[in-house]
Amino acid sequence: MLEEISKIKREIENTARNISSREDLDAFRVTFLARKGKIANLFARLREIPPEQKRDVGQQLNALRSFAEELFKEREKQLVESQKRKTPFLDYTLPGRELPIGHTHIVSRTIADIQSIFVRMGFSIATGPELESDYYNFETLNFPSDHPARDMQDTFFIKDDVLLRTHTSPVQIRLMESRKPPIRAIMPGRCYRNEVISARSHVQFHQVEGLSVDTHVTFTDLKSTLVAFAREFYGKSTAYRFRPSYFPFTEPSAEMDISCFLCHGNGCRVCKNTGWLEILGCGMVDPNVFKAVGYDPEELTGFAFGMGIERTAMLRHNIPDIRLIFENDARMLRQLG
Ligand code: DAH
Repeated sequence: MLEEISKIKREIENTARNISSREDLDAFRVTFLARKGKIANLFARLREIPPEQKRDVGQQLNALRSFAEELFKEREKQLVESQKRKTPFLDYTLPGRELPIGHTHIVSRTIADIQSIFVRMGFSIATGPELESDYYNFETLNFPSDHPARDMQDTFFIKDDVLLRTHTSPVQIRLMESRKPPIRAIMPGRCYRNEVISARSHVQFHQVEGLSVDTHVTFTDLKSTLVAFAREFYGKSTAYRFRPSYFPFTEPSAEMDISCFLCHGNGCRVCKNTGWLEILGCGMVDPNVFKAVGYDPEELTGFAFGMGIERTAMLRHNIPDIRLIFENDARMLRQLG
């Protein structure tokens, strides 16, 4: 009997050592500690023991049972602990993880910034189609079919009379056709030109067009509006100049330069050492344009302007290559956010 007790003790030790799951633990209990387990069996056999040994064997059996119970409790505790360690520790005081949210594309943001300045000056916003007819893109803007100025804008033709608009100026015409003056509106949108793609030009780009038509609009209105815009957009101390230029739909026409804010007029690569940056084309609406939309050029005057968005964004954010704006490399876009 005593031999058997020590044999079962070793068995208990070995089995306990191999417990690694709830199932093992249960099996241990069933084998040794349950009502029909090995220890209970030994207790049942106490009857066979001669009376003078009973006391001794009984003590040994009690010790064996306590030993098995202790081991059971110990292994159970260890199992619970190790399972706890497997569940990740939650620190509720940690700040939450920021969810990656996108941001407005540089082009949309530049348009929005320009719009907000003009909206504060009383301009409304209008849009027009990207697929245009020759009539709106050229004819009504005073580009007759044999006019050499058509060559200024390399056009993607879809069909004889259908093209991808080369500028936002046709929206001026659509607006004047659909409304009575006074008109004060800006017209943002995408344009296309059949150009060789390079650091400075692309086949797609955006413009913001502006138009103000009323009975007494003057060149002074044009200047003060555009100067107010430039000071707001590029900074209070921005210097400016208007250079005479030519556009078929304005007379007189001009281009507006601002002092180069990168080198402050000292000369750099971006301003090509001139100290000046060209930011837009503008002028007084040509009487022929008024005639084309059925307005009376004797009664009405107006000014118009157009600026390139990518160019504006490139100047403002010092972006060296227009392609970076359209390639949509997330690493680039993130920096422009
Ligand atoms: N449409 C011209 C271009 O794409 C820009 C422009 C110049 C627009 C003068 C105007 C303007 O409204 O008055 O080059």
